[in-house]
Amino acid sequence: MNLLLPTMICAAGMLAAAAPARAGQSLPGDEGVPVSGKELQRLVRLCESCHGPGGASSRDDVPAIAGKSAADILSALEQFYYFERHCPDVPSGDGAGGRMSMCDIVNGLVRQDAMALGHYFETGKFPQTSD
Ligand code: HEC
Repeated sequence: MNLLLPTMICAAGMLAAAAPARAGQSLPGDEGVPVSGKELQRLVRLCESCHGPGGASSRDDVPAIAGKSAADILSALEQFYYFERHCPDVPSGDGAGGRMSMCDIVNGLVRQDAMALGHYFETGKFPQTSD
């Protein structure tokens, strides 16, 4: 009990800080699991194919996410995941002629990816990764 209670309070505090309006509902995954650097680079390339280098979009149909806080990015990704936010299909950034939406994108993400991506687009720097 002595150890458990502070741990529980701390865990609740972290959830509240990351997703203030959505206690308890987040992307699946485990934020204790370190993110692979290679996987993170692959995801960043995917995001940047639409959102532009560093998230500084120059497209009219895609908002800039450069400098947005990691908490806001996580919260937006959660909203797309739970269909609480409309996710229009837009031309995918790979030039292959396909279309994709943020709902397609978040289906391939786990919570620890989303937090690492939030860090990257907020700060412009890669967080510490497992490889
Ligand atoms: C196919 C193009 C495309 C790709 C790839 C893509 N996005 Fe998006 N993203 C969009 C569009 C379009 C919107 C705006 C949706 C709307 O609200 O109308 C958006 C919105 C967002 C928002 C909300 C921004 C705001 O200001 O509200 C975040 C955060 C975001 N994307 C993060 C990401 C991340 C992280 C990745 C990579 C894992 C990614 N996106 C990949 C097209 C894309």
